[in-house]
Amino acid sequence: MTDTVHVLNGPNLNLLGTREPGIYGAATLADVEALCRAEGEALGFDIVFRQTNSEGALVDFIQAARGARGIVLNAAAYTHTSVALRDAVSAVAVPTIEVHLSNVFAREDFRHHSYLSPVVRGVICGFGPQSYVLGLRAIAGLPQTP
Ligand code: DQA
Repeated sequence: MTDTVHVLNGPNLNLLGTREPGIYGAATLADVEALCRAEGEALGFDIVFRQTNSEGALVDFIQAARGARGIVLNAAAYTHTSVALRDAVSAVAVPTIEVHLSNVFAREDFRHHSYLSPVVRGVICGFGPQSYVLGLRAIAGLPQTP
């Protein structure tokens, strides 16, 4: 067990700042990363921060987090489509917090279903970049298994 927390981001989140700012806000992914690193420092976590547009690469990122203290996962659109990501989260057995910038339940019906929610420790959505901060705090508050 290390105090490393992996913050993993899925497709199109590299476009934050210019992507539908009315929904996702003005913060860039670099801004989100800076926020996570600052919060990670406050909580005593080493942060691994990654983004990919590819489903398979996201599976690889989740597998690479095996043994970490936690995962904060914004799988973006793959949340709503991917059995492979769900299986990866189950396989690594690392406490995982599903996060979303937007309130997915206030949006289209297809965003109301998540393949991930049943296998994660909890879900945080609707708070913009603060969703990530809350995800990190949630991991800090979980009992640590030896
Ligand atoms: C998102 C919500 C998803 O429905 C969407 O496909 C995204 C971003 C969010 O952070 O609000 O790409 O995960």
